[in-house]
Amino acid sequence: MKVLILPDLQAAIARAADIIVKTVQTKPDAVLGLATGGTMLPLYDELAHRHRAGKVSFASTTSFNLDEYIGLSPEHPCSYHHYMQQAFFDHVDIDPARTHLPKGDASDPQAAADDYEARISDAGGIDLQLLGIGQNGHIGFNEPTASLGSRTRIKTLTRSTREANQRYFRSFDETPQYAITTGVATILESRKCLLIATGAAKAEAVARMIEGPLAAVCPASALQLHKRATVVLDAEAAEQLALRDYYETVHPDGRESAFGG
Ligand code: PGA
Repeated sequence: MKVLILPDLQAAIARAADIIVKTVQTKPDAVLGLATGGTMLPLYDELAHRHRAGKVSFASTTSFNLDEYIGLSPEHPCSYHHYMQQAFFDHVDIDPARTHLPKGDASDPQAAADDYEARISDAGGIDLQLLGIGQNGHIGFNEPTASLGSRTRIKTLTRSTREANQRYFRSFDETPQYAITTGVATILESRKCLLIATGAAKAEAVARMIEGPLAAVCPASALQLHKRATVVLDAEAAEQLALRDYYETVHPDGRESAFGG
């Protein structure tokens, strides 16, 4: 795992944006795996800013989001469809026909999940998968003890995830209990993964992901198996890493290593 530690939130977001922009410049028709959540908002702002400045075009890219709540229509203000529209799609030149999210309002959510997995595969797989991490170690909505071999499917959300997401809804009871999420194995098949974590609230989960045992109880630890996983952290999210000095020696200020890796 490539662990890049940046001094603050702004520097971490800029570093992550550099990696995404480079991927799209190298492969304009890249298939991007996108994520939602508070961590991603400044990143989408930064990408939109770079797009407006003429530094990157998403016109030929395809996107697949990680997850969507079951029971919410795309128009629902708390749906991830709506989030993506507001946070990113409306501000860049991505072709709406090539943006994909699981259909949370499908009459048969498992059939919709199977269809989603097939669409990712038909698109040739994901070139760069963007990821956040939950305080409980989830990636996508793969909650603790999710199968490390899982594919896109329905997951029941933990109480802690619903509590973390309650701020977007009127009450805990209105916060959805189920979601369609791509699986851990779906994520691991991406050619590159880029996980971003910022803030002290993520420090424990980050340490478990990078230095804890590989275990389904921390689904993000599955990234230990990935050949090209990069983790971008701000100093606060890195504060519980036992081997922090080592990561900072390999990648001073979050730069590439001496041998370019
Ligand atoms: P957050 O969510 O960015 O809102 O903290 C991340 C996640 O739960 O994956």
